[in-house]
Amino acid sequence: MQVINSIADLREIARRRVPKAIFEYVDHGSYDELTFRRNRSDFEAMRFRQKVLVDVTAQSMRKDILGVPASMPLAIAPTGLTGLVHRDGEILAAQAAEAFGVPFCLSTVSVCSIEDVREATTAPFWFQLYVMKDRGYTASLIDRAEAAGCPALMLTVDIPVGGLRRRDAKNGLAVPPRLTLRNAIDIATKPAWAYGVMMGKRKTFGNLAGAIPHTGGMATLSAWIATQFDASVTWKDYEDIRRRWKGKLIVKGILDADDARRAFALGADAIVVSNHGGRQLDGAPSSIAALPRIVDAVGGAGEVLLDGGIRSGQDILKAVALGANAVLTGRAFLYGLGAKGRAGVTSALEIMSRELQVSLALTGCNDVRDASPEILYRE
Ligand code: FNR
Repeated sequence: MQVINSIADLREIARRRVPKAIFEYVDHGSYDELTFRRNRSDFEAMRFRQKVLVDVTAQSMRKDILGVPASMPLAIAPTGLTGLVHRDGEILAAQAAEAFGVPFCLSTVSVCSIEDVREATTAPFWFQLYVMKDRGYTASLIDRAEAAGCPALMLTVDIPVGGLRRRDAKNGLAVPPRLTLRNAIDIATKPAWAYGVMMGKRKTFGNLAGAIPHTGGMATLSAWIATQFDASVTWKDYEDIRRRWKGKLIVKGILDADDARRAFALGADAIVVSNHGGRQLDGAPSSIAALPRIVDAVGGAGEVLLDGGIRSGQDILKAVALGANAVLTGRAFLYGLGAKGRAGVTSALEIMSRELQVSLALTGCNDVRDASPEILYRE
């Protein structure tokens, strides 16, 4: 049996199992991918201070996220079209997260709907909101999340317009997937994926069915986004949403200290320092580079989460040491899902959790809540 002991191993299996157009939708960023690469290289450039002869027998990785205990400081990021990475992908990832004791966040543009995930899980999950042009429908999504018992709404604010992901355009990624000859040949070599997705609950945007009469025929996913997403969203809309949503509000896609302060001043419970995984503004800083200034600026006004480039427990520890309350993971869980479904997501979580535990011990910490900039070299 093949030994799987890194997120890279899961990525490699997913690459073989998932059709190229879907795999590259997950695996790439926008334009020249400068920000996408910086999300990784800035983590790689950070170094731990190794500490020895400390008793590290009583370790704890537990941490509260938005007031709820989690088994480690990590949540599953909202990702669109996860049900095309693997049959019923959102349900499987939510179930894996629940069993592991970390939060799961469902995307607006998921394949399985809010109600599908609600039925298949018992732990409350978060819902991520994109503001659509049809504001009535946007409001109905908020109400559906409330009816499903979601404790937190994650409002994503960094995509008023869609950044070009060149691979998607070249691969003809559309919704529902367009069957070009090239795609058909590729899919024919991935029968397990094809059979699974064919037998899955849904094949298009589960939350939006009904609202959008016609999703087919769009040239690309980004062209579709351009027609549905509202480019006129402002802080005023944010305030309206804050008033409508009674639960916790998380604002995702903050990279600027002034924006971070404003988000908290207007009632956010948490923010996610994020550049959308390097899929939007190419040339923006990595999220880990943006983090310290934002943590300083908000001065404990609420929780600061971070995503972008998390591929290991070491990365989680670096982000927490620099002041993130917790991180979100996008691609790392998607690689696991594409490789092995629910078991693959569990495997991704286990790998990162074990890495976090060992790194914690080797930096002389027992409790992840004690991780501070002290465990890092400061250049
Ligand atoms: C995303 N992301 C995203 N974010 C969001 O708010 N709503 C969404 O529907 C999506 N969709 C999506 C699809 C795919 C395939 C990816 C890879 C990402 C962004 C996501 O929530 C998160 O910010 C990044 O994935 C974090 O970076 P890493 O962990 O993938 O490096």
